[in-house]
Amino acid sequence: MQLKISALDRQRAIYTKGASGIRQIIPTTYEGLLDKARTRLSDKAWSYVYGGAGQNQTVRDNESDFNRWRIVPRMLRNVENRDLSVDILGQKWSTPFFLAPIGALEMAHPQADLAVARAAAATGVPYIFSNQASVNMETCAAAMGESPRWFQLYWSRSNELVISMLQRAERCGCSALVLTLDTTMMGWRTSDLDLAFLPFLQGQGLAQYTSDPVFQQITQQLPKPVATSNNPVTLSGLRTLYNANRRHPGGFWRNLRQGIGLKAVRAFTAIYSRPNITWADLAFLRENTQLPIVLKGILHPDDARKALDYGVSGIYVSNHGGRQVDGSVSAIAALPGIVEGVRDRVPVLFDSGVRGGADAYKALALGARAVGIGRPYCFALAINGAAGVQELLENWIAELELTMGLSGCCSVAEIRETQLMQPPR
Ligand code: FNR
Ligand code: LAC
Repeated sequence: MQLKISALDRQRAIYTKGASGIRQIIPTTYEGLLDKARTRLSDKAWSYVYGGAGQNQTVRDNESDFNRWRIVPRMLRNVENRDLSVDILGQKWSTPFFLAPIGALEMAHPQADLAVARAAAATGVPYIFSNQASVNMETCAAAMGESPRWFQLYWSRSNELVISMLQRAERCGCSALVLTLDTTMMGWRTSDLDLAFLPFLQGQGLAQYTSDPVFQQITQQLPKPVATSNNPVTLSGLRTLYNANRRHPGGFWRNLRQGIGLKAVRAFTAIYSRPNITWADLAFLRENTQLPIVLKGILHPDDARKALDYGVSGIYVSNHGGRQVDGSVSAIAALPGIVEGVRDRVPVLFDSGVRGGADAYKALALGARAVGIGRPYCFALAINGAAGVQELLENWIAELELTMGLSGCCSVAEIRETQLMQPPR
């Protein structure tokens, strides 16, 4: 049963509980969220989630460039009845928020994607399942009832695997396919490099693969891994072996005997992505799925226009939270040019740097149709699992609804009609 979230009820509930001495668990500011989550995450998990590419310039710009735009509230416009609902690709969403795809969530919480799926279903906020999930899409979908979900794909070197994932996504009730374009190779993630740690090599974030029949066949065909002088037996190596076999379905001892865990990691590294994909390849996706296709990672208006020529159903402006190209244009700076190029022919979705309801308002005012939440929900997950993610979503929805009403708007369509101001620099 989906919650009906209203900003005033939310405020009232928080203050009423406060009168009995009960405070909320999830801090409402991003700084507070970071501080609390930092105490719950290992150094490696923190590095992987919080970190970006290079010197983290783009991570910072994604956030600070929101400050180049200011809301100018309008008065006396009767904002008693406020409606946050939007129509996206033929679906009605109760708010313009969605949960962006995030891989290896088991680093943040043992229930990982399943906890997020439950929070998504409780609030009605759509969830985009990651290709690098820690819990497979079937399990998450089963916990979501009719609540909206999409699937995000990384185009692997095996087209059979791509087709298999697409078919599974369709069977799980995913109503759109998001193809992420900006991570055909992992960016130069400085903090992960300094810790020499990547979750996938521990078997983390491989659940969509290890549950896939095509991937299982690929894995089985590989020879059993052996220790060599290049790859000697060390304590860390044994830990990796343990983790990789524990995480793989089928039972630890069987997996260990057959070397399945490490084979899966090897198969994944060999197959993960195909940096040679081009626009022409989109036809293959079109032929192999009925789902609307949304391209994630678009930052140039010409790419957005080209995507329309290739018949895609949605454009998703994002720079992957600054994790790929350090020094790249911030997502919010790229948004207006793309909205202009797309001219409402398809919906423009947005993420990267959104830290609360007011940021979401700005992205909507600049023409985004829906706004993705990324790192903040990982931190809420680390702090308090499904309940933490739900609390964060309720807060953000309340903050957006209040920002909208207090700025003189009753609907998302009215937000789109308002002009933001650019303060003199
Ligand atoms: C991501 N992102 C991502 N994107 C994607 O398409 N597939 C994925 O598996 C992942 N995995 C992932 C892991 C982690 C830890 C992070 C932080 C991000 C990118 C994500 O969908 C989104 O674009 C960014 O998170 C947006 O930036 P902010 O707002 O989180 O800074
Ligand atoms: C990342 C990949 C999984 O950003 O998208 O780490």
